[in-house]
Amino acid sequence: MSTETKTSSPRSNQHWHVVRDEKDIAWCHLDMADNRVNLLSVAVIDELDQLLDEFNQHKPQAIIILSAKPDSFIFGADIKEFTTQENSQQALDFLHRGHALMNKLEAISCPTVSMIHGICFGGGTELSLACNYIIASDDTKTKIGLPEIKLGIHPGYGGTVRSIERCGPMAAMNIMLTGRALTARSAKKIGLIDEMVPLRQLKKAAQYYALNAPARKPLKWLPRLTNTALIRPLIASQMRKQVALKAKPQHYPAPYKLIELWQKYAGERTLMLKQEALSVAALTTTPAARNLVGVFFLQERLKSLGKKTHFKPAHVHVIGGGIMGGDIASWCAIQGYSVTVQDQSPERLAQTFKRAQTSFKKKFKRNRRAIRDANDRLLPDHRGVGIKNADIIIEAIFEDVEVKRNLYRSIEPQMKADAILATNTSSIKLEDLSSALKNPGRLVGLHFFNPVALMPLVEIIRGPQSGEHTVQQALAFGRSIAKLPLPVKSSPGFLVNRILMPYILEAVTMVGEGIPPEVIDKAATDFGMPMGPIELADTVGLDICRSVAQILADALDMALPDTLENMFTSNKLGKKSGEGFYQYNRGKPVKNKSAHYDRPQEVQDRLVMRLLNEAAACLREGIVDDKEMVNAGVIFGTGFAPFTGGPLQYIESQGKDKLLQSLHTLEKKFGPSFEANPGWEQL
Ligand code: NAI
Repeated sequence: MSTETKTSSPRSNQHWHVVRDEKDIAWCHLDMADNRVNLLSVAVIDELDQLLDEFNQHKPQAIIILSAKPDSFIFGADIKEFTTQENSQQALDFLHRGHALMNKLEAISCPTVSMIHGICFGGGTELSLACNYIIASDDTKTKIGLPEIKLGIHPGYGGTVRSIERCGPMAAMNIMLTGRALTARSAKKIGLIDEMVPLRQLKKAAQYYALNAPARKPLKWLPRLTNTALIRPLIASQMRKQVALKAKPQHYPAPYKLIELWQKYAGERTLMLKQEALSVAALTTTPAARNLVGVFFLQERLKSLGKKTHFKPAHVHVIGGGIMGGDIASWCAIQGYSVTVQDQSPERLAQTFKRAQTSFKKKFKRNRRAIRDANDRLLPDHRGVGIKNADIIIEAIFEDVEVKRNLYRSIEPQMKADAILATNTSSIKLEDLSSALKNPGRLVGLHFFNPVALMPLVEIIRGPQSGEHTVQQALAFGRSIAKLPLPVKSSPGFLVNRILMPYILEAVTMVGEGIPPEVIDKAATDFGMPMGPIELADTVGLDICRSVAQILADALDMALPDTLENMFTSNKLGKKSGEGFYQYNRGKPVKNKSAHYDRPQEVQDRLVMRLLNEAAACLREGIVDDKEMVNAGVIFGTGFAPFTGGPLQYIESQGKDKLLQSLHTLEKKFGPSFEANPGWEQL
C-alpha cells in the first residue's frame, strides 16, 4: 500500500520488509510468508525482535509498522501455534516471547507508529498498543479489537495493561470482555487509536506522527478515578454481574479471570503484566479454551466449504415474503445483492418491506446512505417478473408439499437454464419436491434459521437428485451472504431440527408431567444453552414445532406429547399469538420466579441425553460428513453450549460409558425414548 521513497535497499527477511526513507523513517512492512493474511506467529515475533535489536544499534528517526497485505493488517496470534502448547509452562514461555517483544518495542527511544488499514485483531492490536501512536484508515474494512475472550482466554501480550492505560478501564474492559470489533470511528472515540483518516491520507498521517511526535492527551480524571484501588472492587462486582447474565464462571472462566486481574493488579504495571501472562497460560489449557478454539476452527472449516466454487448471482429472487422469505430477502439485500421478493398477497409484501426497514436500520444504524442503497436493492415483485432474470430463486412459501410442487411446475419454464432453485423447507424431503421439476438437479435446500439475521448457520440440503455443481453453488452463495454453510443429506428434519426436536419434545413432555416450564428452561440454560427449550418452542411457534415434530415422529417412530397438540388446538401458538407455554408481555415471557421442582438435575439429564442420543444417530446415518460437522451444525444452528465443543465432543470429554449408563437409568424410569441408538458404537 505504501509508496514511500526508498533511499536504502529494503532489508529483506522472511516476513518483514524494512525500507528506510530519506527522512530515516524505518517503514516495517509485515508480509507473512506463505499466508494470505498476517498473523503474529513465533517466526513473525522473532524476526521483529531481531529487527528491533538492529534498530537499537542504528537508530532510525522513527518506526512505522504497516501491513503489505491488501486490505488487512494483522489478524492476531497464530491460533494453531498457540493451541499446540501442551501445558501451562509451555504456554507461559510462549507468552513471554510476545511480552519481551512488546516491551522492547515500547522501550525503543524513537517514535513508533502503528498504521492500520483492514482487520487488526488480538496480537495485532497488542502490537499497536506497544507503539507510541496508532493511526487507522476510516475505511469500512478497518476493524480493531481484542477478541481473545471468544477463544476462552484474554489478551496475553500486554494488551490488558496497555489498553487500560490508553482508554481507561471501563472502555478497555468492555472491549476485552465482549471481544467486539470496533470501527476506526468507535476506536477513536474511546481513545484506542490516536487518529482516523481516509485511506489516501493514511501514510501522510503516520509520517506526521512519526516525525513530530505530538504529545498524547493524558487520560481524563474519570477514567483515572475508576482505576483506583478504592473504586475497582465496586466496578468489578458490577462487571461480574453483567458477565454472569451471559456466561457462567464454571463454563467460561476467562472473563472472570480478566476482571480479577484488573481488580487485583491495575496500577502496578510490571506486576499486572506478569500476572496477565500467568493468567492466560493457565486459561489456555482449560477445556473451555480448547473447545472454543475448536469451535473457531469449525467455523473456519465451514467458511472454506463455501470458497471452493465461485458463484455470485447478479440477481436473487425470493418467493414467499413471510417470516422467513421476507427476512431472507432483506438479509440478501444487506449483503449487497439485488433482490426481488414475490408473494401472492400484496398485503404480505407490504409487511415484508416494513420489516425490511427495521432490519436495515438495525444493521446500518445511522448510516443513511447504506440504508438507502439496501432499499434500492430490494424490490417488491407481486407477479414474479424477477424469475426470468434470477440466477438463484429461493422458495420460502407455505410448508406444504403440493403447494410447493405446483409452484415449481409453474416457474420452471420461466427460469434461466442455469438458475438454481433453493427451498427453505424445514422438513420436506428434497426428493418429494424435485420430482415436480423437469431438471431435478437444479433443486437444493437452503435451510435458514429463525431469526435469519442472527443465526449464523444455513444448512445446504443435498437431495439424491441435486447436481453436485448446484450444491457447490449453494455453499458458495451461503458463504457470500456471510453465513456458515453446512452440507446436509436430505432426510427428515435434516440435521439441526432432527437433533433439536427430541430435546424440545422431552421438555414439552415434562410440562405435561407438571414440571414448571421455568425449571425446565433453567436446567437447559444452566447446562449452557442460550435459551431454554420451552421458550425456544414458543419463539419458533408451536404450529411450526408441531409440523416438524409430526414429520419426525412419522419418520423416526417418535411419540408426540399430547401437550403440544392441546396447545395447538387451543390456538396458543407461542410468542406470536401472545400465549404459548408462557404468557407474553411486550414480547417477553412472563416467568414465575419461584417455580420449583425437586430434581432439577434429572430434568437436565433428560433434556441433554435426548439431544446427545439423536446426535449420535445422525453421525451413524451420515446426515453430515463427520463428527466435526455434527458439532458445528448443533453449535451454530442451536447455540448449543460452545464451551463444550458440541454434543459429540461433550460425549468424548465426559466419557461415553458414563453417559450411556445415565441413558440406561433414564430408560428404566422413563421408557424407550431413552433407548441408546446404535450410533453410540461409532463414538
Ligand atoms: P409464512 O406463512 O410466514 O410465509 C409464507 C408466505 O408465502 C406467505 O406470505 C404466503 O402469502 C406466501 N405464499 C404461499 N404460497 C405462495 C405462492 N404460491 N406464491 C407466492 N407466495 C406464496 O411462512 P414461513 O414461516 O416464512 O415459512 C416459509 C418456509 O420456510 C416454510 O417452508 C417453512 O417450513 C420454512 N422455515 C420456517 C422457519 C420458521 O421459523 N418459521 C424456519 C426455517 C424454515
